[in-house]
Amino acid sequence: MKILILGVNGFIGSNLSAYILKHHDWDIIGMDLDTSRIGECLGHPRFHFTQGNIITDRAWVEEQVAQCDVVLPLVAIANPALYVKNPLAVFELDFEANLDIVRHCVKYKKRIIFPSTSEVYGMSDDTPYDEETSNLVTGPICKERWIYSASKQLMDRVVYAYGNHHGLNFTLFRPFNWFGPGLDNVWVNKESSSRVVTQFLSNIFYGRDITLVDGGAQKRCFLYIDDAIVALARIIENKNGSADGRIINIGHPGNEASIAELAQMMLDEVAKFPDYADIRGKIKIIETSGKDHYGKGYQDIEHRVPNVSRAKEFLGWEPTTPMRDAVAKTIAFYMAQKPDNLTAA
Ligand code: UGA
Repeated sequence: MKILILGVNGFIGSNLSAYILKHHDWDIIGMDLDTSRIGECLGHPRFHFTQGNIITDRAWVEEQVAQCDVVLPLVAIANPALYVKNPLAVFELDFEANLDIVRHCVKYKKRIIFPSTSEVYGMSDDTPYDEETSNLVTGPICKERWIYSASKQLMDRVVYAYGNHHGLNFTLFRPFNWFGPGLDNVWVNKESSSRVVTQFLSNIFYGRDITLVDGGAQKRCFLYIDDAIVALARIIENKNGSADGRIINIGHPGNEASIAELAQMMLDEVAKFPDYADIRGKIKIIETSGKDHYGKGYQDIEHRVPNVSRAKEFLGWEPTTPMRDAVAKTIAFYMAQKPDNLTAA
């Protein structure tokens, strides 16, 4: 099987590629702007990489769609700080640029596995969020954060309609706060620009206080990337066509934590490293408002829990990595990469 992965150097693409090369005999045709996360894949006989951009290299993308068996368009902005700072870039990349690729899949009758998001459920009151019955609830237009959710929701509806009316073979998967090695670069001294786990780690490494937005009582269910990749590989494998035409939540309902609890857990785990044993004396946990942290277009989600019974039914998949283990593994990964010139905070 020939798999086209656009955005192969991203958090999901890079982890998925490493897994596929190890556990399957599939070929990967990958494109990305950069190769920072795929060093180990480059040079593998079944990994065919082209440096490029889905917006400017459209002819190449169409050619590859025509020649492969399955398409995973993973290029997207998926970072809340950017939804508020540059909402049109989110629409242009996540929706407009990807729409071309969806249409190529329709034209060449190729199977598409498209990343939806837990964010499409928005502020739905349901617990858990169900792929087929939950309402999708977003905020007012002035809360620009929702442009990501809205762009993804519209794409879900477009893909679904192509499936229902034009025979497109699709699977939509919905990641719920996947995290682990390679999520964001923590080795830059940055404020309020990463997703929460990597933002907190970066703060710890650079000796900045950890900032809880609006108190930190809001909750997420976190899924370790290795568990997520197993689910994704099963979607690609698609035994008996069980993932065809499905929308599937991929998350860990048992790994629910408030952001304040996450901060404590991360400090506990970092303190197990001798150089960081006294980290609690050096870094404070402070509070700020969503407006100050992200900007006035920010609005938050208080809790979101995935129903994963469909993932179990269609993929035979269940998450296995508990929260604390996932946090510890992620910290160990980044610790091992720590630049020599960076001393403990
Ligand atoms: C994320 C992103 O939209 C996407 O990466 C993704 O599609 C989706 O969730 C998902 O993976 O399910 P969110 O969970 O809000 O959205 O992303 P984070 O940036 O990781 O923030 C989580 C929570 O931590 C938010 O309540 C945020 O306000 C808080 N936070 C973040 C802090 O309290 N302090 C920080 O320094 C950073």
